[in-house]
Amino acid sequence: MTETPKTASTSALVGRLVRDEVRPHGWRLALAALLMGVVAGGTATNAWLMQPVLDKVFVEKDTTVLGLIAGVILAVALARALASYGQAAIMSEVGMRIVAAIQARLFGHFMRADLAWFHANASGKLISSFLVDAGLLRDAVARALTGLAKDALTVVFLIGLLFWQDWKLASVMVLVLPPALGLTRRFGRRMRKASTRAQEESGTLTALLSEHLQGARMIKAFGLESQAIARTKAAIESRLHNFMKLGRTRAAASPSMEALGYVAVAAVVMYGGAEVIAGRTTPGTFFSFIAALLMAFQPLRSLASMNASLQEGLAAAQRVFAQLDTVPGIRDAADARPLVLGGGAIRFEGVGFTYADGRRALDRIDLDVPAGKTVALVGPSGAGKSTLLNLVPRFYDPDEGRVTIDGQDVRKATLASVRGAIALVSQDTTLFDDSVQANIALGRLGASADEIVAAAKAAAAHDFILGLPKGYDTVIGEGGVALSGGQRQRLAIARAVLKNAPILLLDEATSALDTEAERQVQGALDRLMVGRTTVVVAHRLSTVTGADRICVLDGGRVIESGAHRELLARGGLYARLWALQGAEDGGAQAGQRARA
Ligand SMILES: Nc1ncnc2c1ncn2[C@@H]1O[C@H](COP(=O)(O)OP(=O)(O)OP(=O)(O)O)[C@@H](O)[C@H]1O
Ligand SMILES: [Mg+2]
Repeated sequence: MTETPKTASTSALVGRLVRDEVRPHGWRLALAALLMGVVAGGTATNAWLMQPVLDKVFVEKDTTVLGLIAGVILAVALARALASYGQAAIMSEVGMRIVAAIQARLFGHFMRADLAWFHANASGKLISSFLVDAGLLRDAVARALTGLAKDALTVVFLIGLLFWQDWKLASVMVLVLPPALGLTRRFGRRMRKASTRAQEESGTLTALLSEHLQGARMIKAFGLESQAIARTKAAIESRLHNFMKLGRTRAAASPSMEALGYVAVAAVVMYGGAEVIAGRTTPGTFFSFIAALLMAFQPLRSLASMNASLQEGLAAAQRVFAQLDTVPGIRDAADARPLVLGGGAIRFEGVGFTYADGRRALDRIDLDVPAGKTVALVGPSGAGKSTLLNLVPRFYDPDEGRVTIDGQDVRKATLASVRGAIALVSQDTTLFDDSVQANIALGRLGASADEIVAAAKAAAAHDFILGLPKGYDTVIGEGGVALSGGQRQRLAIARAVLKNAPILLLDEATSALDTEAERQVQGALDRLMVGRTTVVVAHRLSTVTGADRICVLDGGRVIESGAHRELLARGGLYARLWALQGAEDGGAQAGQRARA
């Protein structure tokens, strides 16, 4: 089974973020930090300049100093502007690179995950995490770094200036620091919680959206439009609610810091004003002090909101890392070796399998599929046929017993070699938004155009492909020409032909088709099965009467097995199903004739 890691502490998260995401950008960040130092120094210089402006210019009326001060202000402004631009440009680049790196890693991880994981994670949630969490992480990292380097430096410089000018006044101001820190922490915690919830709801909404868009046909067929709208609206509302909470918390963070700041200003004005009146300090020092204090507001405010977005980012980091840390349950064993292929004989030995939700799907299955032979799996819906088939390419691993190919346990062979030995045709064919040719070529990447045409011919697909607007270059799939169920199925068979693997797994490859299409597809399949080890799952018994052996599954067990005639003669479940299907549509006889 897939292993999911536990949640991490803040320091562990930050440590990992720095190690994995931030460190690769070290030299860029060092340069940005240097520039931020220039910005912070400029701000402090401007505050300090208030003192000579007042004391030398206004009080002493010194004109040479006036020109000098104006020049310094201009120079500082220019340096500050350039440095500010440089650091912002660097930080935004670093942020985007971090997002891109995380997304690339996440996608790689998605692609290597096992099927159980895909069942457990709705694709909408994954997409939302992929897009939104990566963005939140970028914002957090960029803001945290900017905050630490620029805002924190500015505050440190300004506070240094305050103490240097008048340490007694400065001490008054320090009194507001503890409540400020307390507030910051509280807002941070609230942000992280609200952000986690908001993100969960974004995932739910994305999932709803993709399900409803994909299920448009079914929704129309059942007249479910208003129900769908109501359901989605509720999700939108609930997400809105959370985002409003998030917004309110974020909005409250800076004004409350500001209010605290004015408490400090009031205290300083009271005490410092009295000192000036008493002649113990100059007006210049006093105003420079107030200027430094006011200038410290902006960076302090952004430090407060930085913590908020940092918490959002940490919540996102936790989700992203949790994804990255899940180890697929199905992966190459440490000592895995490539499968040594003979004829592709498959054996199930005492196989038992239980799904993650505790559903026992297979129980003590012993089944032999000799090389080059065809075994059919039949039985009622939910009997476990697809599950059994899925164990061969290791979509799942059995809990008990083992599955072997040519005598080798599939778990001890490399995944690539096992899956390379198998061609799978299932009921639903995935077509990508690409040309017909490219879609068939997925069977074997690098196949030549001639090989693709030959495969299409063998799959009885060539003629209908030529009838498409641009033949083999017609774009099909979601954004292209829609194909019928039978046409899709034949493309899937063409893929399997192209793959030319010794083992063929067919899971109800023809069940969705009408009689005519089924006849064509079945013909293509019959040609494909020659000389290959084949396991075929079929609902319509008429399609498997020619199999070397038929196994009847029920409730996760093989309850009957033998050739068609033997099973009929036995008068068990198979004979009953056969009689039922024959009575239903006369399809049994028709199918038999078609195959004869
Ligand atoms: N991903 C899953 N998670 C949990 N249970 C599952 C999953 N897939 C199938 N099952 C359960 O396992 C049992 C066997 O399912 P399976 O798909 O193998 O049946 P089947 O014989 O192929 O049926 P059908 O003929 O309808 O395709 C069923 O009870 C089903 O509900
Ligand atoms: Mg099935």
